This record gives sequence, C-alpha cells and structure tokens, in this order.
Amino acid sequence: MTAQLIDGNALSKQLRTEVAQRASALKAQGVTPGLAVVLVGDNPASQVYVRNKVKACEDSGLHSVLEKYAADMSEADLLARVDALNNDPSIHGILVQLPLPAHIDAQKVIEAISPLKDVDGFHIASAGALMTGMPGFWPCTPYGCMKMLESIGYDLKGKHAVVIGRSNIVGKPMALMLLQKNATVTICHSGTQNLKAQTLQADVIVAAVGKRNVLTADMVKPGAVVLDVGMNRNDEGKLCGDVDFEGVRQVASHITPVPGGVGPMTITMLLVNTLEAAERAAAGA
Ligand code: GUN
Repeated sequence: MTAQLIDGNALSKQLRTEVAQRASALKAQGVTPGLAVVLVGDNPASQVYVRNKVKACEDSGLHSVLEKYAADMSEADLLARVDALNNDPSIHGILVQLPLPAHIDAQKVIEAISPLKDVDGFHIASAGALMTGMPGFWPCTPYGCMKMLESIGYDLKGKHAVVIGRSNIVGKPMALMLLQKNATVTICHSGTQNLKAQTLQADVIVAAVGKRNVLTADMVKPGAVVLDVGMNRNDEGKLCGDVDFEGVRQVASHITPVPGGVGPMTITMLLVNTLEAAERAAAGA
C-alpha cells in the first residue's frame, strides 16, 4: 500500500479562502479582524515565523501589526505592551512569539494576554476550556491536525490514537482534542517503555517530538493514519519531520508530508482563531 498524502498546502488554501470570505463579511459590518504579533529579540527562526504570519494575514484580508522589540526589553515593558493590546479594540488576537529572552518569564506574559484574544491558545484559561469542552481558543498546531483528519472524513469514534510527545503546545492539547472526538488516546513520551508496542496498536499516530525517525515503518499498523508535526533538518540540511516518510508511506493509509503538511496548517488555524475572536467581539460575546 502507498499512503495517500494529506496536503496541508491545498487544505490551507481552501480554509484561507473561507477566512477571507468571513473577514469581508465582518468588514461590511465595520469590523476588520486584527492580529498583533509581538517579537522580542532577533532569533532568526522567529523572524521568519512572524513574517509568515503577518503575510498570511495580509493575504486573507486580516489587519496585522508586527511589533518588534530589542532583546533587552524589560519584562515590565512587555507586560505593559500586552496590556495596551488587550485594550485596543482594533486588535482581536495577540500572539507573543516564543521563545522569549531568558530574563522574561514567558508564562507570566502568556497569562497577561486576555483569554478573549489568546489566539495561540496558550493561556491557562484556554487550556482549561479545551480540557472541559468549553468555548475557547485551541492551540493552532493540534487544531490543524484535527482539520486534516476531518478533511479525509476520518471518524475518530472508538479508534485508538497514539500521540508521541507531551508538550503543552502540541502533545497534550492534541490528546484532548482526539478524546473530545471519542478516540481512545495514549500519550507516549521520552519515558515510555517500548514505544513500538504502543504505536503498533494505533489507528492514528501523531508524531510531535522534534526528532528525526521517531516513527519507522516497522512501528506502524498497516492502514494507520500518520500525522507528522516534526520540523527537523536531515544530514543534507533538508527539512524533514519526525517520521521516516519514505518507509512509513508504504504502510500507512494516509500521511502528512514535511514540508507541506502540518506546517502550513498551523498558520491557517491562527487566521481562523483571529477571525473567530473578531466575530465573537463583533457579536458582543
Ligand atoms: N514559536 C514557535 N511556534 C510558535 C507558536 O505557534 N506561537 C508562538 N507564540 N510562538 C511560537
């Protein structure tokens, strides 16, 4: 069997068209959805990420503001900026790019963002809302993975999903989203004994570790769906995921490529969350 690719670029294009349509409907009511992206310091990867986020907003008709600050910005000054953005009615979503410089307490900054504008879904209130099934913003990467499963018409009810990785940004929220759709969920991590015994049981595998070849063909049940959240470089410097793509695609029924899989979906879901925040604000929620 050769797996079908789940194309994150194609799905993103479709979803971003819908975002653009909903954004223009809001604009007709006098509300332009707005995202503020805050970057502190000069981390080269972060600079690329924030540029891509701002460009994606422009392409979908969302207003965006990029605020760049020097690496020695004080925590108090950053908290004051977040407070100002919380109170700015033209801004519906706030994203403070991580990592922050070491002298700034990132968790404190995240908690300072209004949960109504927390389009990253990193605030403790957003995490609590996801855990309890209440309305709130879902972290963009696992949310994008759910949209990819939806795009192939996959019914998670009663299926066994194995998530490899337990980060607050991907692994843990991913597990909760899969659970909400009635999958039986296992979270594996660096302390898991015999990972292969777990993944061989899985109908769906999400690899989110940040290490090459965490998942190889011998670890995958024939016909399983494999989502690859990893972003690594191979020995030739080429972008690759956590999954041995060439091997696993011979066994899986569906697989996401890297690049062109989960990556573009993360930014797309940021646009969706920002639009949602603006729609809620316009409705007076
Ligand atoms: N750094 C890497 N990915 C992300 C993300 O999705 N959001 C934020 N705020 N920072 C990041």
